[in-house]
Amino acid sequence: RHHILSLADFTPVEYDAVLQTAASFREVLSRRTKKVPTLQGQVVANLFFEPSTRTRSSFELAAKRLSADTLNFTSATSSMTKGETILDTAKTYLAMGCDIMVIRHTSAGVPNAVALEMDRLGERVSVLNAGDGQHEHPSQGLLDLFTICSLIDPLQPRLELLKDKKIAIVGDILHSRVARSNIWSLTASGAEVHLAAPPTLLPKLFAEYINDGEASGLDGRRKLFIHWHLEPALRDADFVMTLRLQKERMTAHLLPSLREYHQMFGITRSKLKWCKPNVKVLHPGPVNRGVEISSDLMDDPEFSLIQTQVTSGVAVRMALLYLIGSGKAV
Ligand code: CP
Repeated sequence: RHHILSLADFTPVEYDAVLQTAASFREVLSRRTKKVPTLQGQVVANLFFEPSTRTRSSFELAAKRLSADTLNFTSATSSMTKGETILDTAKTYLAMGCDIMVIRHTSAGVPNAVALEMDRLGERVSVLNAGDGQHEHPSQGLLDLFTICSLIDPLQPRLELLKDKKIAIVGDILHSRVARSNIWSLTASGAEVHLAAPPTLLPKLFAEYINDGEASGLDGRRKLFIHWHLEPALRDADFVMTLRLQKERMTAHLLPSLREYHQMFGITRSKLKWCKPNVKVLHPGPVNRGVEISSDLMDDPEFSLIQTQVTSGVAVRMALLYLIGSGKAV
């Protein structure tokens, strides 16, 4: 594979390759110099057609730590404002010698379309999906996996560590590309994944599987359960991942009362009593403080892995750029 567009077809071997490589780079990042010459001479272009703080900055930092040259593009300050198309923008970066394109867009499928065009042209450019609409956010899914596995075994994070774990994903599943990538990665590990959301914030396909609020398995291989109440999802959970209420993608009828939403689905210290005693809480960011998670819990290092997720993002994105850029199979 020379593009990373989705985790739907990732294999256990590929997950473990990313986890092990990221662990090596985490060690590099702990050194004083923090830099390796691996991608010297290569050009990584961050093509962001939608705002981002952590994904764009950590891909840029990851590329710099690997000694690649970086180009940063934001559509609002580009010639797209004069009518240039996405594919023509990508071809412009190709003409400048770009080796890896990291693409974020509000529409699902844009990174795939650019990857197809590069393949059609016979170019060896790699495309990394940095979040496309409601489709996927593979690097976030991988950094969340790395964060969780590293907590269990920091030296050898690997997929099998999650086999008997229960992981709850709570909140706006409908609009969440992070949830979609995490569902692929976490269920691939053999973990039990429990989704909890109001029915209006679940994809229709999932909402139809709800059985009076009780868990129902979706298929025999992947252990995925859906709830419209929080307690059964959180009961004895090892990890709770809460998601941002994506108000900007909601029509008025979908937007719940924020106070009621917080009461029913907001993660607080008192609701964590349903989980295992050493439960940890994740959130991909950015966070609506006091909506999907209480402000005090977000900042509590006993429970919150939110800052660790951001730190993990650099090592994981170095791993992805390295595995793609050095021509190794991911
Ligand atoms: N988690 C995430 O994608 O954050 P940004 O939108 O800040 O990149």
